[in-house]
Amino acid sequence: MSHHIAAKQGDIAETVLLPGDPLRAKFVAETFLEEPFCYTDIRNMLGFTGTYKGKRISVQGTGMGQPSLAIYGYELIQSYQAKNLIRIGSCGALNKTLKLRDIIIAMGACTDGSMNRITFNGQDYAAIADFSLLQLAYEKAVGSSIATRIGNVLATDRFYGDDLEALKPWTDHQVLAVEMESNVLYTLAARYGARALSILTVSDSLVTNENLPARQRESSFEDMARLALDVAVE
Ligand code: ADE
Repeated sequence: MSHHIAAKQGDIAETVLLPGDPLRAKFVAETFLEEPFCYTDIRNMLGFTGTYKGKRISVQGTGMGQPSLAIYGYELIQSYQAKNLIRIGSCGALNKTLKLRDIIIAMGACTDGSMNRITFNGQDYAAIADFSLLQLAYEKAVGSSIATRIGNVLATDRFYGDDLEALKPWTDHQVLAVEMESNVLYTLAARYGARALSILTVSDSLVTNENLPARQRESSFEDMARLALDVAVE
């Protein structure tokens, strides 16, 4: 058991899917995994392990924001020997070529948050996805005729308060979308020898101010979860 995860050694698979919402972790486990069991419910941040296409896979809620994800990511890698961390989350589009429900595979993740500034003494670190996972996700998406965009995202510390104008330095540099976790996920994986990838669906657009209705949010989450699971079982 670690500080925030109540699993026993061996309960957690080498490959862990990471939705922010613990109820999404439950949904993935109950919808896609065979014989899932819940290995932790500390703070209601649920985690499950089961099998998908014969391979053991875990799915762990991370909460929202970089500090929260960093706690679960660190403990999964350091206390439970997780090797592959695949975030499945949502994002806000910063680019008019993106539509609601589009899937983005984050090749890199910038941040306006302070965690990496602390780690790197105020200097910048280019947080990038693991190439082998990225390549696999791209190939699986192409194989399933799922259109994806691959590029840079921004992990912000603020959900509210930033409009498109405030985010102009990022959009001027081709950052596709804004979310709240991927930069620290990629940094942690690099630091502690794991592989990481973020797959994101567009749930809202800062360009058009549209929001995906709850029902469609669910179905686009399912498509993304299926893609992530296909990567996870390789
Ligand atoms: N996740 C989904 N939409 C977002 C947004 N607009 N800002 C930050 N994180 C998000």
